[in-house]
Amino acid sequence: MSERWTPESWRKKPIVQVPDYPDAKVLADVEAQLASFPPLVFAGEARNLKKQLARVAAGEAFLLQGGDCAESFAEHGANNIRDFFRVLLQMAVVLTYAGAVPVVKVGRIAGQFAKPRSSATEKRGDVELPSYRGDIINDAAFTPEARIPDPRRQLMAYRQSAATLNLLRAFATGGFANLASVHQWMLGFVKDSPQSRRYKELADRISEALSFMQACGLDLESHPELRATDFYTSHEALLLGYEQAMTRVDSTSGDWYCTSGHMLWIGDRTRQPDHAHIEFFRGIRNPIGLKCGPSLKPDALLKLIDILNPDNEPGRLTLIARFGSDKVADHLPALIRAVKREGRAVVWSCDPMHGNTITSTSGYKTRPFDRIVSEVKSFFAIHRAEGTHAGGVHLEMTGQDVTECTGGARAISDEDLNDRYHTACDPRLNAEQSIDVAFLLAELLKQERAVKARPLPAAAGL
Ligand code: PEP
Ligand code: CO
Repeated sequence: MSERWTPESWRKKPIVQVPDYPDAKVLADVEAQLASFPPLVFAGEARNLKKQLARVAAGEAFLLQGGDCAESFAEHGANNIRDFFRVLLQMAVVLTYAGAVPVVKVGRIAGQFAKPRSSATEKRGDVELPSYRGDIINDAAFTPEARIPDPRRQLMAYRQSAATLNLLRAFATGGFANLASVHQWMLGFVKDSPQSRRYKELADRISEALSFMQACGLDLESHPELRATDFYTSHEALLLGYEQAMTRVDSTSGDWYCTSGHMLWIGDRTRQPDHAHIEFFRGIRNPIGLKCGPSLKPDALLKLIDILNPDNEPGRLTLIARFGSDKVADHLPALIRAVKREGRAVVWSCDPMHGNTITSTSGYKTRPFDRIVSEVKSFFAIHRAEGTHAGGVHLEMTGQDVTECTGGARAISDEDLNDRYHTACDPRLNAEQSIDVAFLLAELLKQERAVKARPLPAAAGL
């Protein structure tokens, strides 16, 4: 790994999960065009996120990362983006107020278009076609034409990302995220739910606190942290030709940043140490994530950390554990111990989605809410036992009232899945289920703080 890195050095390495583009010339033209387009994010923003993630690594903050499994060209509406942003804000407020921790907000959005697949082909009856790999590559319709990878889709993904990011920036800084609006973030369809009552109580308390501060003479308008919020974007950087085209030298530091999103992560299927994805990621200076699934052994993880974060820079690397509720206790402790033993600064985040996918009796890919909750709880319990910080969560979620994950307060059943199953790929938590998870997290974070605050002998009894 001491070979010189360039934005294209990954091209000499073995690679998996790549589309088979029929026309290399069209692909090269598209990549050249993308390379001439403006960056979507700035290096300075990625550095700010890294600083905030360093606080998470130090146990002083919590990472809330979530969004669609796959964004889609067909669902690119302002309402979708607003509803997602609103639920994420609600969750962040629950965590900040009830859990009493600063929250780093990162969306799986404005670039989350490419999907790794467990099989290169999909079979329906007697017909076998190439798998759908995300809207940036091909179309989900089950026809031979739709499934042909088309490079021009990368231009559409770029433009959609730019438009999405533009709206998100407006929401984050243009008044929508003002804490004084905490009541207005409630979505219409969640109003009569148990989550909404809990949320309203919390919002009432926040409003009271704000009025109190105002009555004490504090000018709330002069505090930007109450009027606006920091919001960052992230996606799995799977399609390396696209990512390379978006990789630019930052003029202020001379370092390379991939400007397609603030934070990028490596999927569980593309983390082979001598392969293309690891090669690409080692040279960009963005904060990055690494999915850690059941096949990852402690030694292999340490080797990857050596490659990806040789300077042990806090905030650079987020390890996203995605084992499944029944496997997390078998795998996570050994990884945490190895990382701790070697003194590596990382953020530990929990993805309770990707290890808990099942096929329902009605034939839909789903995730039982109980298993999601169970993996989150185990994640916190394991970190408590190891004396490390449960640093964050990584969720597939939407602001819409979908029926994709079974269970939750409304007890969505297998039969209900058919009602509003809209995902382009994996099943997502709906708005109510997401808020439910936020209240659970707040409770778990409070417990973590209580343990930390206690003198050591008492904590040993836990
Ligand atoms: C994902 O996050 O959508 C994904 C495919 O995850 P993983 O790489 O962990 O399977
Ligand atoms: Co997914």
